[in-house]
Amino acid sequence: MSKVAPLPIGPAFPWLAPLAGRTDLPFRLLCREQGAAVACTEMVSARGLVYETRSGGRGKALPSRALLLSTPLPGLRAESDVPLVVQLFGGEPFFLGEAVALLRSWGYAYFDLNLGCPVPKVVKSGAGAALARNAALALEAARAMLEAAGPGRVGFKFRLGWNREEENYLELGEALAGSGASWLTLHPRYARQGFSGRADWGALARLKSAVKAPVLASGDLFTAEDAVRCLRESGADGLMFARGALYNPAVFGEFKAAWSRGPAEVAGEGAGEGSREERRPDVSRLKRLVLRHAELVRAVPGKESRGGPDPRLLKMRGAVQLYVRDFPGSRAFRQDLGFCRDWDNFYQLTDDCFAGN
Ligand SMILES: Cc1cc2nc3c(=O)[nH]c(=O)nc-3n(C[C@H](O)[C@H](O)[C@H](O)COP(=O)(O)O)c2cc1C
Repeated sequence: MSKVAPLPIGPAFPWLAPLAGRTDLPFRLLCREQGAAVACTEMVSARGLVYETRSGGRGKALPSRALLLSTPLPGLRAESDVPLVVQLFGGEPFFLGEAVALLRSWGYAYFDLNLGCPVPKVVKSGAGAALARNAALALEAARAMLEAAGPGRVGFKFRLGWNREEENYLELGEALAGSGASWLTLHPRYARQGFSGRADWGALARLKSAVKAPVLASGDLFTAEDAVRCLRESGADGLMFARGALYNPAVFGEFKAAWSRGPAEVAGEGAGEGSREERRPDVSRLKRLVLRHAELVRAVPGKESRGGPDPRLLKMRGAVQLYVRDFPGSRAFRQDLGFCRDWDNFYQLTDDCFAGN
């Protein structure tokens, strides 16, 4: 098995988390330009990938392959989307191993296994948080991926457990680290919690002291200041921005700057989801971000439009609505975006919203 460079992990190297429906190629490129050191694809079905490939895609859509779209592409350099981590989900070790082998043969280098998704459709298939509930099967899946990938290439992302009664993150983390995981990401909530309550950063500290593998923090990292506090409190090796990046892709650079300024500069307690003041963006930078996202979206080939609005535009509207949600006076813009069906109208609305900036 060929050797591979270890992925950068540390406070200077914030990652973009896997985000279903969101971390497509244009968004990853945008976040990388803003300082993300590593980016993850959204979760891809291992079984879907294997079946699509076996059928040769004859006359069929290839939804799982489409999620893997990366560079090089005409006009986009090969290295602009690296390092890239492909996140897989599935409940069957065989398909997870096969999927990694396929991905390796196509040139993908790093892989992550989703052990935390609580969405009913995923859980029903025995994947995501359901797989983590069955530690023996999870380990079998981990081994299949590690064997197919080779050393230095596989990480695992999980929650505290199914619920408080079935908390198992320490045992699971130790077992995965012992099997050769190159990183462990913990989102310290129970699967049954979804996104309610607060992420328990104390659990990150407990995992960190229990395992030798690097620990990445995920959970309630909405601002640069949240991220600095989380790393300080937990001692985690690095972190992933998830919703923080969806609301503000510039959070990567802001975090690196805040970290390098040192402790005295970090604002006090509990910013969290509620603290919109802290997140209020700089207006001209926000406009540049919106326009750059549009430029990247248009640089990447998308689905056929079949005469209707460009599906790339329809998808991007939702992303932009999140960027501007804390921008005073953006309500009308957000509403109008919902009806926007062509690019000229999109640019016009953007200009109107940021008039004078
Ligand atoms: C829209 C959305 C999609 C997500 N998709 C995935 C996914 O595909 N794989 C995964 O492991 N986690 C996924 N997550 C979880 C995030 O990666 C992250 O662990 C979680 O949002 C906690 O971080 P945060 O509180 O800073 O957002 C998703 C979260 C959101 C909000």
